[in-house]
Amino acid sequence: MALELGRAKGLSIGIIMDGNGRWAKKRGLPRTAGHTKGAEVFRDIIRYCNELELASVTFYAFSTENWSRPMEEVNGIMKLFGEYLVMAYDYQKENNRVVFLGDRSPLPEKYQEQMNDIEQKTRANTGTILNVAVNYGGRQELVHGIRILAQRVLAGELRPEEINTDTVSSVLYTAGQRDPDFILRPSGEHRLSNFMLWQASYAEFVDMDVLWPDFTRADLDRAIEEYNTRSRRFGGL
Ligand code: IPE
Ligand code: IPE
Ligand code: MG
Repeated sequence: MALELGRAKGLSIGIIMDGNGRWAKKRGLPRTAGHTKGAEVFRDIIRYCNELELASVTFYAFSTENWSRPMEEVNGIMKLFGEYLVMAYDYQKENNRVVFLGDRSPLPEKYQEQMNDIEQKTRANTGTILNVAVNYGGRQELVHGIRILAQRVLAGELRPEEINTDTVSSVLYTAGQRDPDFILRPSGEHRLSNFMLWQASYAEFVDMDVLWPDFTRADLDRAIEEYNTRSRRFGGL
C-alpha cells in the first residue's frame, strides 16, 4: 500500500546508495552497469521525494574513500556523474534547491562550473532540498569547517570561546539546513562509511536488505513507515 499522503512531509532523509557492484555481479555484468542502473533509481527516487514533499534528501554518491577503487570504475562513475549534471538543470523546473556536498576541487573544471551554476540557478527554489554528496567524507567536512573557524580566529573575527555547536554546523556543507531525521542504507550493510558524521548525531538508522539498483518507491515507503515507529527521545524521557 502506498504511503498515506502527508506522512513524510517535512522530513529530512539521508540515503547511502549502496549495492551497485553486488547487483551487477549477480547478473554477470561489469560493476559500471550497476552504477548506471543505480543512477536511474536515484533519478526516480528524487521525483518521489518531491511528491512526498520532504524538506531535504541527501544522496551519498561518491565518498572520499571511493577513489581507492580501480581507475576504470572511478572513471565510469565520474562519466556518469557528468551526464547527470547536465540533467540536473531539470531541478530548476521541479523547484528543488540543489546543493553539492564535498570537496569539488579534484573534479574536472567543467563539472565544477556546472555544479556552481546549478547551485546558483536553484538557490531560490522552495521545494525539497536535494543534496548530492560527491567526493564527500564526514571527517573531511569537519576538517574543512575547522579550518574556516581557525582562519576566523586568526583574523580576530571570532573568539575560541564563541565556538559552539551552531558555529560548527554553520561551516559544514549543509550550513543552514536541519539535521537528517533518518539515514537509510540499502544493501544490508550497517555502517555510516563516513557519511554525515556530525549531522547524524541523533538520526535514526534504517538499514534495508535491498540492493540500491533494485530500490523502489515502495521501499522508501517502508523505510518511512519504519522510521515512524521509532521513539525519538533526544536524551530526554
Ligand atoms: C555504491 O555501490 C556506489 C558507490 C559507492 C559509488 P557499490 O559500488 O559500493 O556497490 P557494492 O557495495 O560493491 O555492492
Ligand atoms: C559508501 O559505500 C559510499 C557511497 C555509497 C557513495 P561504500 O560501498 O563505499 O562503503 P563501504 O566501503 O562498504 O564501507
Ligand atoms: Mg558498497
